[in-house]
This record gives sequence, C-alpha cells and structure tokens, in this order.
Amino acid sequence: MKTQRVLTGITTSGTPHLGNYVGAIRPTVRASRLAEVESFYFLADYHALIKVGEPARVQRSTLEIAATWLACGLDPEKVTFYRQSDIPEIPELTWLLTCVTGKGILNRAHAYKASVDKNNAAGEDPDAGVTAGLFMYPVLMAADILMFNAHQVPVGRDQIQHIEMARDMASSFNHLYGEHFTLPEAVTEDHVALLPGLDGRKMSKSYDNTIPLFVPREQLRKLIMGIVTDSRAPGEPKSTEGSALFQLYQAFASAEETTALARAYADGIAWGDAKQTLFERLDREIAPLREVYEQLIQNPAQIEKTLKAGADKARAIATPFTARLREAVGLRRLDSAAATATAKAAKSAAPAFKQYRESDGLFYFKLVDAGGQLLLQSTGFASGKEAAAAIARLQQQGSQALEGLRAQLATQAEPDVLARALAHFAPQPE
Ligand code: TRP
Repeated sequence: MKTQRVLTGITTSGTPHLGNYVGAIRPTVRASRLAEVESFYFLADYHALIKVGEPARVQRSTLEIAATWLACGLDPEKVTFYRQSDIPEIPELTWLLTCVTGKGILNRAHAYKASVDKNNAAGEDPDAGVTAGLFMYPVLMAADILMFNAHQVPVGRDQIQHIEMARDMASSFNHLYGEHFTLPEAVTEDHVALLPGLDGRKMSKSYDNTIPLFVPREQLRKLIMGIVTDSRAPGEPKSTEGSALFQLYQAFASAEETTALARAYADGIAWGDAKQTLFERLDREIAPLREVYEQLIQNPAQIEKTLKAGADKARAIATPFTARLREAVGLRRLDSAAATATAKAAKSAAPAFKQYRESDGLFYFKLVDAGGQLLLQSTGFASGKEAAAAIARLQQQGSQALEGLRAQLATQAEPDVLARALAHFAPQPE
C-alpha cells in the first residue's frame, strides 16, 4: 500500500483548550507516530484573518498553537510542520481553484449560509457583514489540502462539507487539466465524544466555557472546581449520565479508572472529591506537557526556526508542484516547448522530485522524469531539511548544482537530459 498522506490544520484564532487537545491535538500527534503515514500539520493563519481583526491576537495564537503541538509531542523531524502563510504557493493555488469552483457551490457552504440566514431573519441585506474571505474560506482550505495531495484529512464533523468541496474542486481541475490532484477524504473520530465545557454544553470558545489546556496548575484546579454539577449531597448516589465531570474524566482516564469513578458515583462520592479526582488525573497527563510548553513559549525564536525549517520542507513539494500546475493551466514561459505542444502532451506530468524516508531513518530524494524514469538518486541525508536544501539547490541552480552535490547523487541519465529536466524547475524571470 502506498504511504498515506495525512494533513490537518488549526486556525490560529485562539488559545488551545481541553476540547482541542482531546478532539484534535492528542489524536493527530498519536497518528503521526505511525510508520506508514506521512503527516502534514500546519497553523492556518490565513484562515485566522477571516475571523480575527487583531494582529497581535493572530500572532499570539500562532505562537501558542505551535508551542502546544510541539509540547504535546509532535516531532518536526518526522512530520512536516509549518505555518500556512510561509507557503506563498497556497494563495496561488487558491486562485487556480477559485477559477474552477462554481459560485453556487460556495453559496451552500454552511458557515456562509448560516450568516445569510441570520441576516435574512434579522431583515438585513443577506450579505451584511459577510466578507469575501468568509465566502472563499472553503477554497483556501481546499488549496491547503490539495497542495500536498493529502489522502486523509482528520477534522471535526463541522468540517466534512469543506472536504467534500475540496474533492469537487479537485475533480473539476483534474477533468479540465489532467490528473494532478488526489481526492481527499475526511476522517472524523466518531468515538471521541465531544468534550463538555464548564457549563455542561459542548466546550467551545463561543460559549465561553472552555478550560485552556495550559493554565498554571492552581488555575486548572480552580476551573475544575467550577464545573457545574447537580445539588446531590455527599453520600447520595450520583448519576454518571450527563455528568460533564464524568465525561471529562473519561477522556483522560483508563477504562479501569473510569469504572472506579463510576463506582464512586454510585457510592455517593462528594462532588468536591470527584472534582479533586478529575483534577489530579488531568494534571497527571498535562503537567509534563505544560512544563515543555512553558519553556517553548519563552523561546519564540526557536519555534520560528522550527516553522521555517518546516516551510522549507513543505515548499520542496509545493514549489515544484505549483510549477507543474502553472504549466498545466497555461501560465507558461513563452519560450518553453509546451507553447507549441498539443493539449494532450501538456497533460503528461512534468519531471518531479520525490522525497521520502527509508527504514534506515535517513531522508532521500530522487528526480524522475515525466514518464517516471529515474534521473537522479540521492544518498541518505540526516534530516529532511538537508534533503530539501539539496533539492532547492538543484531547482534553483540546475546542472550547476550537480558538481557540488556529487558525493550525494547518483545518476545514469545523459547530462543534457538531466539538464533539461532540471531546467524545468528554474526560477521564472519576473
Ligand atoms: N477549517 C479548519 C478549522 O477551522 C482549519 C483548517 C484550515 C483545516 N485548513 C485546513 C483543517 C485544511 C484541515 C485541512 O478547524
């Protein structure tokens, strides 16, 4: 089976809370450790601009979410971890997709429709207060996904429609311009119960009932003591059904621990004691992560460096892929051979760099031509970043880079065939 590419993003518009941790961060970090997946995780900061008009908040949230992901164990050597706005190819692809997307499809997007319905109900103009950014949200999201040809996109249930739209856009584009995009699938964690917030409703920023993931220990205790319960006195049996406290506990505890708390409920545990039990259990999991988080957040320069390295890795894919898409749609150099080629020939793929990791833990790449023939094979690099840097050098300098990289490359191809393939990636004159 081909390696599955898994991709997901978090909008940088707030502070991560327990619901984000249980529903998104913890499962994606765990999944990223599986050998057979290649994961792409990113900070969706372009998306944040749709909802947040405060620059400082976008920046702060980006820092907090990056630090959270890293503190929770995301390994930037193993996954591609980047910030959306470091990839200028994403807005470029957004435009290419915009041009194959029916406006009527976007009219039906839930988030946009909800705004229109609200305006209609209030007797306002249907589009009052609706930015074109909100309207275009699904296209930007499709560009995120299709850029890396992700197979699977773990998301909350509210995002399924967006993945379906991305599939539609991919199909339309493929139909017009040849098979360039993989059709992505949404992956939802149906067994993960939605985490309740302090007031028992779904934990959500919009209800102002969240428990931030990384508050100081004492503040966490205070918040937990504030979770709503019923008025049953100590000694009275309590129901686990509909108990926010119990559901929170369940999201962190083992099956045995959960059974034990259920028994304590039946035996009439005092709410104060139940809250203390929840607090201890939560803190046991969170405390070690919190310690790392606090170090990271003190060191934004380090995070910035990590994100930049991730962007290099991501762009090693995005840059050549965008060149291929530009070629496909006809945004071409005027002196390129394709200017006179038939549409059919234009559909065949351009040469491509393929980056991968072997079981020896090293990072490799190869260059294959449009027909899939091997042109260049690298030896192993210690990091994905070094492999990506070598690719970038080949793309920017073409054959001139070959001499300097000789020790790391093997090739059987004719020099002029190789030179022509490399020229394909040459930076286009402005
Ligand atoms: N829209 C997602 C959310 O709000 C965030 C997001 C942006 C995303 N781009 C994505 C998720 C691409 C998955 C894939 O939750």
